[in-house]
Amino acid sequence: MKKLVFLGLTACFMYAGELDVTIKPVNNEIYKNECGSCHFAYPAGLLPSSAWNKMMSNLSNHFGDDASVDKKTFQTLSSYLNENSAEKSMNYKRSRKIVENLNGTIPDSISKMPYIKKKHKEIKENLITQKEVKGLFNCTACHKNAEKGIFSEEDVNIPNYGKWEKDD
Ligand code: HEC
Ligand code: HEC
Repeated sequence: MKKLVFLGLTACFMYAGELDVTIKPVNNEIYKNECGSCHFAYPAGLLPSSAWNKMMSNLSNHFGDDASVDKKTFQTLSSYLNENSAEKSMNYKRSRKIVENLNGTIPDSISKMPYIKKKHKEIKENLITQKEVKGLFNCTACHKNAEKGIFSEEDVNIPNYGKWEKDD
């Protein structure tokens, strides 16, 4: 019994220490190189495996670009994405929320998921479409520590606006 209480407490402290990291950071070099050459290497925990598999099945037409890779690399990337997808990273808060808000859908992107759109609905459209950002897909334009899995609003810095403050 004592041991159980101790384990429980330890788990709580470990969790508290990691509160800011709400998405598991990318920890695969091949993924970082292959899928981070045109844009931020999106952490696997931002989408369910169904969405990653759908995207991976059509890499030659990837948002208008050809992002195809050789067979061996494909296997490595697919395994990495499936092993770390949102439903496999439920101990990270945002992955859990993403899964809870899917409602049976297989999203085509991260930025167009209703949950992610909702989280950004208070940002003025012109701050998102401005040339320094281009679109919501460009997470690192505003989330300076996205690569560490940190997306908290205290850490946001929007180009030509600065630190995030709600208008109301
Ligand atoms: C040749 C360039 C290129 C490569 C390589 C590439 N992408 Fe992309 N990706 C794009 C473009 C272009 C978009 C559309 C948004 C943008 O302009 O960044 C995009 C968008 C995405 C999105 C959706 C972002 C959103 O709006 O939510 C995901 C997820 C994504 N890519 C994952 C990957 C993965 C996984 C790989 C590796 C297998 C990869 N990408 C490799 C060019 C690339
Ligand atoms: C134009 C700047 C901008 C871009 C681009 C952007 N965000 Fe955000 N994001 C914000 C702001 C501002 C907030 C806080 C909004 C609020 O509290 O009303 C936020 C909040 C969030 C939150 C919830 C806050 C938390 O504590 O976890 C998540 C998750 C998030 N963003 C993920 C992303 C992801 C993933 C992308 C890329 C696909 C992205 N954001 C792109 C500005 C941005």
